[in-house]
Amino acid sequence: GLPARVRIYEVGARDGLQNEKTTVPTEVKAEFVHRLAEAGLTTIEATSFVHPKWVPQLADAEELFPRVAGLPVALPVLVPNERGLDRALALGARRVAVFASATESFAKANLNRTLDESLAMFAPVVRRAKDEGVLVRGYVSMCFGDPWEGPVPAAQVVRVCRALRDMGCDELSLGDTIGVATPGQVRALLSLLAAEGVPTEMVGVHFHDTYGQALANTYAALEQGVTTVDASAGGLGGCPYAKSATGNLATEDLVWMLRGLGIDTGIDLGRLVATSVWMADRLGRPSPSRTVRALGNP
Ligand code: HMG
Ligand code: MG
Repeated sequence: GLPARVRIYEVGARDGLQNEKTTVPTEVKAEFVHRLAEAGLTTIEATSFVHPKWVPQLADAEELFPRVAGLPVALPVLVPNERGLDRALALGARRVAVFASATESFAKANLNRTLDESLAMFAPVVRRAKDEGVLVRGYVSMCFGDPWEGPVPAAQVVRVCRALRDMGCDELSLGDTIGVATPGQVRALLSLLAAEGVPTEMVGVHFHDTYGQALANTYAALEQGVTTVDASAGGLGGCPYAKSATGNLATEDLVWMLRGLGIDTGIDLGRLVATSVWMADRLGRPSPSRTVRALGNP
């Protein structure tokens, strides 16, 4: 059966905007996050405290975070290392996310580390965050396919998920970073993880829509008991260090499906669509979301 409620973990302001060629002004980002909160999203990933040369689009994290910190929503931020954690904690962040990879190639491209070196980099971050009572998410990218390595063996995903769980991560997010997964693979990976001691309650899913499979994959995950789904308003996003990654699952498309299934999300779809249309105007190109296109031009 399907879950009665689903938590949408909104990543547009971070995963979406980190991939834009043009850097969006800080005040536009702040308004975006405010509008997402007004549309009813309760978890809104705000920005990343990474090296500004690696992701210049999010180099204004220090300016942005204080402008949204007063919102009555959860505002997780990405932190790759202790330097990032220090920056986030200094601004009062209460939720952070580390981001691992299921593959060596992407660990190298995204973090300049081997997989084991990246896990060693995260361990003190997670420990210190937990000591401060901060909730920690552990992303795992390239869970199904990798642009350099091709299909990714599920055992590699299991290994990284267990390592992050053992470190103390409160939740995980399984990323199909390049959007190649299909529903049967999603079902198989989630079953394997559960069998290998990674409880489904701590697992979220993060799909990209490269091959138009993101919603089907989400449905397969819901059938496996997953209740946290990552999505990006208007389908913004990709990943600057993974060339073939296109947009994330669009939040509007997800809300449309969940609404049809009778699964409440508390989201005002009209306001969300209006927000994505507004952001598309700022970015100078239309939203790829089918739902935004269907509802956005009355
Ligand atoms: P590095 O070059 O190996 O860094 O990068 P380092 O540790 O050798 O340090 C070099 C310098 O950077 C030092 O300064 C540090 O202080 C500074 P120096 O002493 O030379 O003056 N530095 C920092 N400055 C500010 N903030 C920091 C920081 N850390 C070091 N946090 C590093 C290693 C991890 C920093 C770099 O590779 C990096 O920032 N990577 C982030 C890449 C990124 O954000 N990628 C996108 C997110 S992941 C993703 O999109 C996938 C996901 O969405 C899910 C999915 O779709 O699958 C999550
Ligand atoms: Mg993504």
